[in-house]
This record gives sequence, structure tokens and C-alpha cells, in this order.
Amino acid sequence: MPNHFKNMPPHWFQRQDESADHHFYAQARMVQHIDLTTIAELTEFYRHFLRQGADLLDCMSSWVSHLPEDIEFGKITGLGMNAEELRNNPRLSNWCVHDLNIDPVCPFPQAEFDYALITVSIQYLIKPIEVLASIRRSLKPDGQISIAMSHRCFPTKAISAFQMLPAEQRIELVKTYLEQAGFSSSEFHDRSPQSGDPLWIVTGKA
Ligand SMILES: C[S@@+](CC[C@H](N)C(=O)[O-])C[C@H]1O[C@@H](n2cnc3c(N)ncnc32)[C@H](O)[C@@H]1O
Repeated sequence: MPNHFKNMPPHWFQRQDESADHHFYAQARMVQHIDLTTIAELTEFYRHFLRQGADLLDCMSSWVSHLPEDIEFGKITGLGMNAEELRNNPRLSNWCVHDLNIDPVCPFPQAEFDYALITVSIQYLIKPIEVLASIRRSLKPDGQISIAMSHRCFPTKAISAFQMLPAEQRIELVKTYLEQAGFSSSEFHDRSPQSGDPLWIVTGKA
């Protein structure tokens, strides 16, 4: 994998609102963060990407995981910031509240999951490489990650790189994250619907 971004200046990882994230996420938001047509594309992507019966980590999760309803998975673990959202997510077998911007190490054993998902949330991580390296360790040797992105965000909480760089470079940035976190390869999938929010997915092999 080529080295996509050699330099990632520290200011790219700064945010307008640098207060602790638990203030911002204290109130549950039972909303969808992308259009329904885009969600349908994402669910369809997961239908082919994820293996039935697999153990999943839904990292930066909320009350929805966008998984195909007719496919049974093994254990589905959620990690997020709001307990009420996570408690109301019908797909999660277990979940924890954990602030990855305070402690970028995910609290899971090594080789626990077949797949990890980060959906429309990567832009909120201030230490993404440490987080992704820890996710990689929690994946089985043939495990994979999917990082789905769109163009919406909470502007005060998204790092400046995601506000300043055009979409193509944001995708390259996420590929660089994976490379630097030790993933062996990455791939880009454009699953944007004809109308509605775009859907850009970067996958990586552990
Ligand atoms: C835009 S929502 C996306 C939620 C869900 N993945 C979805 O597809 O609808 C952003 C999510 O990132 C999580 N998040 C934001 N900052 C976080 C942090 N510092 N540590 C862990 N999770 C965080 C929040 O709990 C929230 O659920």
C-alpha cells in the first residue's frame, strides 16, 4: 500500500469544540445521520461484506447499526458515547460507553471480532491511528474493517481535516490511517446512491 499522506499536521486533528465529548453526547439523539436511500445502500453493502454468523464490533455506535435484518450474526458489540442510544439498539448483544478521544484503546480482548464497523463517525476521532491500531488487535487474523463516510457531520466536533479537505482527500486520509494502524491493505468502494447523501466506504484487512 503506498504511503498516501506523509504528513498529517497536528492542526488537522483539532476541533472547534475541544470540551470533553461526554457533554456533547449527554443527550440521546434517536435520529438518522444520513438519508434513508443512503442507509439502504449501506445495508446492502453490509449484506455482501459481512459473513453470516460473524462476530461484529459496531464502533462509535448508536441506536441503529444498519445491518440487514434477515441475516443473523454472532455476537454484536457496540461502543459509543450515549448509554440510552446503545441500550435501544436492537442488534447489539452487549455494549459499552467509552470515550475514544480520552482513551483511544478499545477495551476488548485480542482477536475477538471478525469485522469492525465505523459508520459516519470517523471524523470525530482526534487520535484515529491509535484507535484503529487497537481495533486491528481486536480483530481475528483474517478480520476486516469497514469505515463508511458521508458528507454530513457535527461541525463543532469533527476534526478540521474533515472540514477542510475535499472528499477525495478525506478518503485518502482514511486509507493512510489504516496503513499507519498496521492494516495490510485497504480498498475504496463508492456506493453513493443517485440521489441522497453520498456513501464512501473504505475497507481494510487486519
Ligand atoms: C453521527 S453519530 C453515528 C452513529 C451511528 N454509527 C450511525 O451510523 O448512525 C456519531 C457517533 O459517534 C460516537 N462518538 C463520537 N465521539 C466519540 C468518542 N469520543 N468516543 C466514542 N464514540 C464516539 C457517538 O456516540 C455517536 O454515536
